[in-house]
Amino acid sequence: MQLQLSTWPEVESYLERNTGIIVPIGSTEQHGPTGLIGTDALTAQVIARRLGEETDAMVAPTISVGMAQHHMAFAGSVTLRPSTLILVVRDIVISLARHGFERFFFVNGHGGNVAPVSTAFSEVHAELGEAAALAAPGSNQMPAEVQCRLANWWEMPSVKKLSDALYGDKRGTHATPDEVAVTWYAFPDQQRSAALGPLARDSDPIQGAADFRRRHPDGRRGADPSLATPEDGRRFVEAAAKDLAKEYRAFTGG
Ligand code: NI
Repeated sequence: MQLQLSTWPEVESYLERNTGIIVPIGSTEQHGPTGLIGTDALTAQVIARRLGEETDAMVAPTISVGMAQHHMAFAGSVTLRPSTLILVVRDIVISLARHGFERFFFVNGHGGNVAPVSTAFSEVHAELGEAAALAAPGSNQMPAEVQCRLANWWEMPSVKKLSDALYGDKRGTHATPDEVAVTWYAFPDQQRSAALGPLARDSDPIQGAADFRRRHPDGRRGADPSLATPEDGRRFVEAAAKDLAKEYRAFTGG
């Protein structure tokens, strides 16, 4: 079920039997010469919706813009400041919690989101804890039963296994063939090709946007996205959804 394609009475009746919700979160940023700028948001969305079907869970609107400061030297990239993203996530969780949602399962498509989203979860717990304590001073009342979980789809064991088998050391860490494959599976008429230069395989932390562009002039990091195919994209979606479903069920007790 998608929240955006539901009516309020349908959401109300969903909440009578289930308080879990899946929240796709990605980024809008360059993905090399052949990867779509929406790659991280699109992959998170496709996988989250597949997971929603698998678990009969509600799927929230995709948070399509994330923390992508280090991609800003490439045209078309859009970023939120970390502090903005923390507030966006906080506001979405609190809004949904007001209606009775209690288990927030974020399916993430972008590494730069991990720190701000984790911080947002801490902010939510701090805020709900304070509100509960202030509502009943001296009672040591526990905060509302809101729990949040962040799952990075590209780190799921079945995804890694498939990626190792298909790409070996050509997966890399940005504009990777698996994420490109997932977008080509979802949008088969959006495939691109381009002459790609040699793989730059450094793993030192990126020091901002200019540093990224200097070290990785075409936007890829150690990745060969020319290996991507739509069929492999389908396999990655299935692999990710299978592992995430296990995590989601354990998280929601479903
Ligand atoms: Ni990406």
